[in-house]
Amino acid sequence: MDIVLTSQCWNSLQQMQSYTGCAIICDHSVAALYGNTLQAKLACHQIPVHQIIVPAGEKFKTLESASHCWSEMHRLGLDRQSLVIGFGGGVVTDLAGFVAGCYMRGVDLIHIPTTLMGMVDAAMGGKSGVNLTSGKNLVGVFHHPKQVIIAAHYLNTLPQQQFCAGIAEVIKYGVVWDPMLFEYLENSMSSILQRDMEKLNYIISKSCEIKAHIVKKDEKEYNLRAILNWGHTFAHAIETLTGYEKYLHGEAVAIGMCCAAQVSHHLGYVDSAFVNRQAALCQAASLPVALPKEISIEALISQMCKDKKNRSGKISLIIARQIGKVIRVDDLDKKFLQEALYGTH
Ligand SMILES: NC(=O)c1ccc[n+]([C@@H]2O[C@H](COP(=O)([O-])OP(=O)(O)OC[C@H]3O[C@@H](n4cnc5c(N)ncnc54)[C@H](O)[C@@H]3O)[C@@H](O)[C@H]2O)c1
Repeated sequence: MDIVLTSQCWNSLQQMQSYTGCAIICDHSVAALYGNTLQAKLACHQIPVHQIIVPAGEKFKTLESASHCWSEMHRLGLDRQSLVIGFGGGVVTDLAGFVAGCYMRGVDLIHIPTTLMGMVDAAMGGKSGVNLTSGKNLVGVFHHPKQVIIAAHYLNTLPQQQFCAGIAEVIKYGVVWDPMLFEYLENSMSSILQRDMEKLNYIISKSCEIKAHIVKKDEKEYNLRAILNWGHTFAHAIETLTGYEKYLHGEAVAIGMCCAAQVSHHLGYVDSAFVNRQAALCQAASLPVALPKEISIEALISQMCKDKKNRSGKISLIIARQIGKVIRVDDLDKKFLQEALYGTH
């Protein structure tokens, strides 16, 4: 996987002329802002370049959206030598990866992420897929992009709430891998929120470095890669139970990381200072930290039991030992979780 940080993404696209055609998959918002410019810039490679536009938002990361893309690609005459470009946030890169991974049994893929979430996490690592109404990311394939092209200037138009949601995954890297990154976030959050370019470039490149390193060691998540799921089993259950509408993915991750910290504390692996420190950093990034009142702990746990990461009916969770060190625990039972999560609303 080739990750390029650049100021002009089209200059970094490799060997476009070796493809017979290209589909840029993007959502309505990104299409309106940047779709025509990218399409026009790619036209110089003298291959047909099409935009396939899907509705924006997590609610549309579905098989129906994927099916629309496949039908459009076929209608447009795109063959096995064509290229898919996932151009947008994590919803679009997850969808485009899945579309590319399955179309004619797999065509090449390049991602150009336009959200912080996409730049620091979603566009890298080859996980792609769609949600079912009964659960998140339940259908998908591993399909690695040939390139991930990151141009931070796209963030200039990203709404602040979306921007903050992306910071949740950077906090995650700090907790699971890099205490210095965690401290850096604590010391620089106000300038990051004002989108200081130097600080932004630092957190983006650091996140890419950490994710690339972990994925290289364990591409299919047999062991090490699972640490990137810190807080995510909770987050996916929260997103499903709220119909993919109440929270952005990163917001659900922030709540999920706080729940995971509570469980780690209940197991006696971390002290309350850890729990408070992580919550304070999430709050500094304007992220929610408490479970919403409408989700009962019973409903949350019951949804978590359906997560694809569980083994033999027991909930498998990433648990913290300290900032920068986490482990996987595979045999947590419902009653223990219920006690641990008491008071997290
Ligand atoms: N595959 C992975 O490893 C992985 C990792 C992390 C997250 N994800 C997935 O990523 C998804 C969340 O991604 P997201 O937070 O980027 O949300 P998103 O893709 O829904 O994008 C957020 C919103 O911002 C808009 N937008 C995008 N770029 C913009 C720009 N530059 N200017 C203005 N508006 C812009 C989009 O139209 C959308 O409405 C979730 O589905 C999550 O599961 C996947």
